[in-house]
Amino acid sequence: MAQHNLENIDTSQYPHINKGLDGIVAFSTTKSFIDGQKGELIYSGYNIDTLAENATFEEVCFLLWHDRLPNSKELEKLKKDLIAQRELPKTVLDYIKNTNKSAEPMAVLRTAVSMLADYEPIDSDNLPHAIAITAQMPTIIAAFDRVRNGKDIVAPLKEGSTAFNFLYMLNGEKPGDAAEKTMDLCLILHAEHGMNASTFTARTICATESDMFSAVTGAIGALKGPLHGGANTAVMNTLLELDKQGDKADPVAFTKGKLEKKEKIMGFGHRVYKTFDPRAFHLRKMSKQLSEETGHVKLYEWSEAMLKTMKDEKNIDPNVDFFSATVYYSIGIKPDLYTCIFTMSRISGWSAHYMEQAANNRLVRPRALYIGEKNLDWKPVEKR
Ligand code: CMC
Repeated sequence: MAQHNLENIDTSQYPHINKGLDGIVAFSTTKSFIDGQKGELIYSGYNIDTLAENATFEEVCFLLWHDRLPNSKELEKLKKDLIAQRELPKTVLDYIKNTNKSAEPMAVLRTAVSMLADYEPIDSDNLPHAIAITAQMPTIIAAFDRVRNGKDIVAPLKEGSTAFNFLYMLNGEKPGDAAEKTMDLCLILHAEHGMNASTFTARTICATESDMFSAVTGAIGALKGPLHGGANTAVMNTLLELDKQGDKADPVAFTKGKLEKKEKIMGFGHRVYKTFDPRAFHLRKMSKQLSEETGHVKLYEWSEAMLKTMKDEKNIDPNVDFFSATVYYSIGIKPDLYTCIFTMSRISGWSAHYMEQAANNRLVRPRALYIGEKNLDWKPVEKR
């Protein structure tokens, strides 16, 4: 394996190399702004705290797609358009029914979203695609969860918010106001986040002039990884691992032990935030309240103990994925669906970035620093 040591390598033809594109500005955007030192997040002009207190997920979709809030007529139209698109084509439903029941939900979602492209005329007006994918993702996720548990698929409602309809399709019964509000707030908090890996992937695919379905399929693949959206499932698995230890469970020793072994603690750290992630404030509050209400207070207390240990030992703060895990757990959602919920929210940001990139495009084509050998002598296969 080649060592990535830059000594003796002529780097003069390259402007600079930043591992992980750390600090590189690749695009301009009106979709979101992050101040990593202050812990500030803005979606198209509106602070995340303002949106968390006042907006619905549908309003956030409109905001990201149009760079302004909708008036009441526009909001009603968007809600109607989303409702009209919730049903899945039969072949996609057949795929969900027939695929491996133990498949990863994110893998099923990725394939199903890719299949949706076969039913949409691909043209230059991308907003209808954004609406269709946003409307259909919750149906895919809920349908697969029901099928893998041997239950009948629940058809989407012809009314209600994205959050309400998703919980209805997942559980087969209409959720209460509190559960709908919790889910809606989670969708708002995960909708958009600058040039994260999956949004970068979506914009890169868009920049080749490929279609939105391809861009979103690629973005789902990027979000799935545990260093990105997959971290929320990993956080819950960590807490459940602790739970298995019964009375011996010690979140402080567990965290310190992992750090000593140089292992990452999922749900902590961020490339941009060097302070508390503003989304985590809201999720922490929800996690405390919901875990008390649902008898999972132990999981919340362990989370707080891990948080304190991470702060004391490494001065690292939690990110969006840390408390979202216990929020979803408290409302009865299975851990391996958490990243899918992230996806059904982040589709709004991905599609907004896709349309922004398409409107002012240039191919994304960075360079790689070649550190291999050059001009080796050729040996015929029998002499190697
Ligand atoms: N646990 C323990 N140490 C950590 C962690 C963590 N979660 N995160 C960062 N560090 C340490 C890291 O070991 C390194 O220490 P040292 O300088 O002593 O080697 C230092 O902090 C810098 O970390 P890095 O990995 O170089 O930072 P990065 O910007 O490349 O990575 C990250 C950012 C999010 C991938 C990383 O913090 C991480 O792996 N976190 C755990 C996974 C996670 O929660 N991901 C969700 C990210 S936010 C939501 C999303 O995008 O989906």
